[in-house]
Amino acid sequence: MNVLVIGSGGREHALCWAISASPLVDKLYCAPGNAGIGEVATLVPDLAISDHGSVVRFCRDQSIGFVVVGPEAPLVAGLVDDLAQAGIKAFGPSAAAARLEGSKSFTKELCARHRIPTAAFARFTDPAAAKAHIGNKAPIVLKADGLAAGKGVVIATTAAEAHAAVDDILGGQFGAAGRELVIEEFLEGEEASFFALVDGTHVLPMETAQDHKRVGDGDTGPNTGGMGAYSPAPVMTPDMVDRTLREIIAPTVAAMAAEGAPYKGVLYAGLMITAEGPKLIEYNCRFGDPECQVLMMRLKSDILPALIASVDGELADFDLRWRDDAALTVVMAAEGYPGDYARGGEIRNLHKAAAVEGVEIFHAGTRRDGDKILANGGRVLNVTAVAPTIAEARTRAYEAVDRIDWPQGFCRRDIGWRALDRDAS
Ligand code: AMP
Ligand code: GLY
Repeated sequence: MNVLVIGSGGREHALCWAISASPLVDKLYCAPGNAGIGEVATLVPDLAISDHGSVVRFCRDQSIGFVVVGPEAPLVAGLVDDLAQAGIKAFGPSAAAARLEGSKSFTKELCARHRIPTAAFARFTDPAAAKAHIGNKAPIVLKADGLAAGKGVVIATTAAEAHAAVDDILGGQFGAAGRELVIEEFLEGEEASFFALVDGTHVLPMETAQDHKRVGDGDTGPNTGGMGAYSPAPVMTPDMVDRTLREIIAPTVAAMAAEGAPYKGVLYAGLMITAEGPKLIEYNCRFGDPECQVLMMRLKSDILPALIASVDGELADFDLRWRDDAALTVVMAAEGYPGDYARGGEIRNLHKAAAVEGVEIFHAGTRRDGDKILANGGRVLNVTAVAPTIAEARTRAYEAVDRIDWPQGFCRRDIGWRALDRDAS
């Protein structure tokens, strides 16, 4: 079968890397892809993903039997619906089901209707009403309702900061995403990411991971798309996994089916593990980036039949096998990220770095120029390692990082610190 993967990040490189190992694949394409993906798939850099008609035509021309949509924007825009209507099988939720990520207020209302544990919340379009609700409560969390590329969230530590954020968000700083403001109770605890494949009805749990969202060591500085991750997440004990499935994932999947928008694809729950148990921070309708990279490194089974079973509604009897080994990934980003950064710096010695035992380097923002690999984005490389423990995986990953010659790049030096602190205590 010919397969098309949509996207250009480290997540899509990891997916292409895993899918390319499947005996079911004849030819693998990725649109638009990046320099690293070009090693395992044929790149289609000029396909306009937002023009669904062009994607359908490409699939027909290249006899694509299966499409895997990586990022949220095309899912929320209904790419899977339009492909399905054209008779092309595609992995991921419909636009109606992708509202779990695309609209925070949709998800919060669903949680309220079905008693799914999450932070208490209220919605506002009027700044005065929002400020009256905040009063002098702090810390408190403010979110733009729509998709804002992970940047529409303010954790206000003082009431004054919260009042200013009301004006920023409702004042149009996030465009249409900020037409409505969600104000939430601040949850205290440790964060974890939980992933499951869903086929409309059945849930196939995948593994857990922990992400590092802040740009600086010690979890300081502004939020990013994610500066590193590891799997498994030690905070997700078997009991927490079980509670997450029972109290959060299963009722969500049942509710979506009952409300006429059955969820298919990967359901990514961002959780806060609080003193009372797991609480939902947010849903994403796609794999995490960089969490997908560590999951793919640990997956022993062929991923492709599982993705197809999600679309076909056949996950009930499915099983996935995982390595006992841990995996850890370090994101190398361009100096300045998540603010302004320069593109075009040359990256050298990737082969030397990839020669470290247990290491795979997934590319995010890179492009090839002849024999050279150039930086072409904010998050640029995901240096990923497997090893028997998180500590050893981290040693391997940083050994590989230190072999890479890219003067304009930087990374956090403390990925995995929570897991290592836990081992030490
Ligand atoms: P979100 O885009 O909703 O995932 O929020 C981004 C980050 O803000 C999360 O990963 C958390 O670190 C933090 N966050 C969001 N909501 C809350 C909350 N209610 N309480 C504490 N932290 C939160
Ligand atoms: N790493 C966080 C995300 O993919 O949303």
